[in-house]
Amino acid sequence: MLEAFDFVIFGGAGDLALRKLIPGLYRAHRDGSLPSDARIVPTCRNAQMVEEYKGKVRAAAEKHLNAGEFIAAEWDDFAKRIYPVFLDIATKDEHWDAMAQLLNSGDNRQRVYYLSTPPSVFSVCCKHLHESGLITKNSRVVVEKPLGYDAQTAEEINSQIAEYFVEDAIFRIDHYLGKETVQNLMALRFANGMFDHLWDANSIDHVQISISETVGLEGRASFYDGAGAMRDMIQNHILQLLCLVAMEPPEHMTADCIRAGKLEVLKNLRPLTGNTVKYNSVRGQYVAGEMGGKAVPGYLEELGQSSNTETFVAIRAHIDTPRWANVPFYLRTGKRMKERFAEIVIQYKDTARRIYPDTAGLVTPNRLVIRLQPEESIKIVLVSKDLAKHETKLHPVVLNFEFADSYENFVSDAYKRLMLDAAANDPSLFIHRAEVDAAWAWVDPIIQAWQRPENKPQGYMAGTWGPQAASLMLASDHRRWFCIEDALKGIDN
Ligand code: BG6
Repeated sequence: MLEAFDFVIFGGAGDLALRKLIPGLYRAHRDGSLPSDARIVPTCRNAQMVEEYKGKVRAAAEKHLNAGEFIAAEWDDFAKRIYPVFLDIATKDEHWDAMAQLLNSGDNRQRVYYLSTPPSVFSVCCKHLHESGLITKNSRVVVEKPLGYDAQTAEEINSQIAEYFVEDAIFRIDHYLGKETVQNLMALRFANGMFDHLWDANSIDHVQISISETVGLEGRASFYDGAGAMRDMIQNHILQLLCLVAMEPPEHMTADCIRAGKLEVLKNLRPLTGNTVKYNSVRGQYVAGEMGGKAVPGYLEELGQSSNTETFVAIRAHIDTPRWANVPFYLRTGKRMKERFAEIVIQYKDTARRIYPDTAGLVTPNRLVIRLQPEESIKIVLVSKDLAKHETKLHPVVLNFEFADSYENFVSDAYKRLMLDAAANDPSLFIHRAEVDAAWAWVDPIIQAWQRPENKPQGYMAGTWGPQAASLMLASDHRRWFCIEDALKGIDN
């Protein structure tokens, strides 16, 4: 059981707090993970917000929790833990003293300061915490991505926070690492000899990592247009997935060993600079199209101005280590795509020798398909003899493991998991400063090369799989983006 803790949310009335943080803490309350005296202290920018806060979070929880999760009596019990406070982060006034009084009434308990705010106020917030005497040896700070706009701004932000918190007390969140299916990547690799032994360039032809989204701008125009898919998704979520797929087995399952393993992957990513960028990457921007039978506007119409920001990225990456020599990693993410899913596909090499005659049909490659969301599954595409036929006919078939069949009560909530880890002072699933730096070091030159006029984003219709150039990039390597229906028809190679 966790020790008693106070969980302070700066930006307590913001979108993230209402959609993810408070509902996640409610789930933790319901399943008994919160110590009886754990307190939640959201900050609000004015007194009226404080008055209305409990009603507001309740309405948001009813909306964002899954069907059946909101139980009025349990919510009322949970709500007793919430102590909203009036606080202007930027102004060090008596409201900071009032918060200090509240927090200091909890003895020297564990404290988590969750900065659910724009990075521009991280520094002043840490400063005011320090001046109010609120940074105790039991205190940690959690910061949200995106951490910076490039290597330099990330460095500035990290240095500002480091003035007040030691590295061990800085928890940089990437919510993908809190997804149970993402953590399971390590179990799959390191607890299953079968995969552990078949995880390198001798066996694997290539790897695909895709996060495909159906949503568009969702009211985040000003943030998103300044960031684009590269900074919003590749620099963090996709590179973290890549790290977990590609890292060497850590010596122990400790935060230090896992982070060191991931860092090695990032440092060994082959740099893409100048002319190599055009050959190895595709940028796209969605134009008007159709989603689920309904017309949807293009990115520029949603934005209301012209822009060269990409909403789609595909990259051919290489990791220059002996394990991954000449194995391409195809990375892809996009908004307003045909379907929402996140998936990792490990494609194995063909059999060493073809011994079946052509009349037996195609011998298609084996794939391990790890579906991270929305439905969680692991599939293995195999080749089998058609048992209903006397003569030998080979067909692709699929072995399918659906997590929902084995873990009935499983509710995927990455934020809940990570908030509890922060309260327990376990940084294993948080990102070290060195990882942030290494990720930017790889990403920055690609973004720079994209400023050239010939690298403007290519249009793709909303509701499709992105620009055709993304398919052509794989076709030029005699490969295709994986699609299970095609794989089972044997038409995907
Ligand atoms: C966020 C990005 O980090 O991740 C969003 O800022 C994106 O643009 C979201 O939509 C995707 O997360 P998930 O968990 O819904 O796949």
